Amino acid sequence: MTNRTLYIVVCGAPLASRAGDGIRAAREQGWDAYIIPTDAALPWLESQDLNGLTVVSGNRRPSDPQRIPRADAVVAAPLTFNTLNAWANGNANTYPLTTLCAALGSRTPTVAVPFAKHDLAGHPAWHASLAVLRYAGVRIIDPHDGSASAVQPIKSGSGDEVSRGFRWNWVLRQLHEDIPG
Ligand SMILES: Cc1cc2nc3c(=O)[nH]c(=O)nc-3n(C[C@H](O)[C@H](O)[C@H](O)COP(=O)(O)O)c2cc1C
Repeated sequence: MTNRTLYIVVCGAPLASRAGDGIRAAREQGWDAYIIPTDAALPWLESQDLNGLTVVSGNRRPSDPQRIPRADAVVAAPLTFNTLNAWANGNANTYPLTTLCAALGSRTPTVAVPFAKHDLAGHPAWHASLAVLRYAGVRIIDPHDGSASAVQPIKSGSGDEVSRGFRWNWVLRQLHEDIPG
């Protein structure tokens, strides 16, 4: 059986420091996985061993061929306040946002791990955007414990600790439930 294709959109928050682990965990479970970072995520990627992992940055040139196969599933982890709201609003002015908007529009199975501190998560747009994404079928996973029922904001100063405790298996398990086989 050929592997299925997974895009992992990585935004600019501490959990981006685990992107390489995510790609490796996904590959172990039979996915061909690709990192699609926002510009803000790049500093977190620089410090990781991404040897042999495919990072797809920026738009391709119009004359270039498609760089990666069409996705069977998409993950957004971490999903920042900024990208969450842009995605829910249908803004597609970067490659990661175009990827996320296209996943929603094509009903591609998608799992998101929102990651924002209390001050940002207290903004009303946060709740509205989460509701839009849930309504559209996006599976929302809490970065603290993998819960699929509610997302807790990150306590100030605990972003690195929450990132260390994060298990990529929470995301992969959800994907396997949604698209078994
Ligand atoms: C050290 C650091 C930590 C950050 N942590 C978060 C975070 O946990 N959640 C969040 O939404 N934004 C966080 N930000 C702010 C985002 O990086 C910023 O809003 C950025 O514009 C997001 O861009 P993106 O959504 O395109 O990745 C952090 C920024 C820095 C420099």
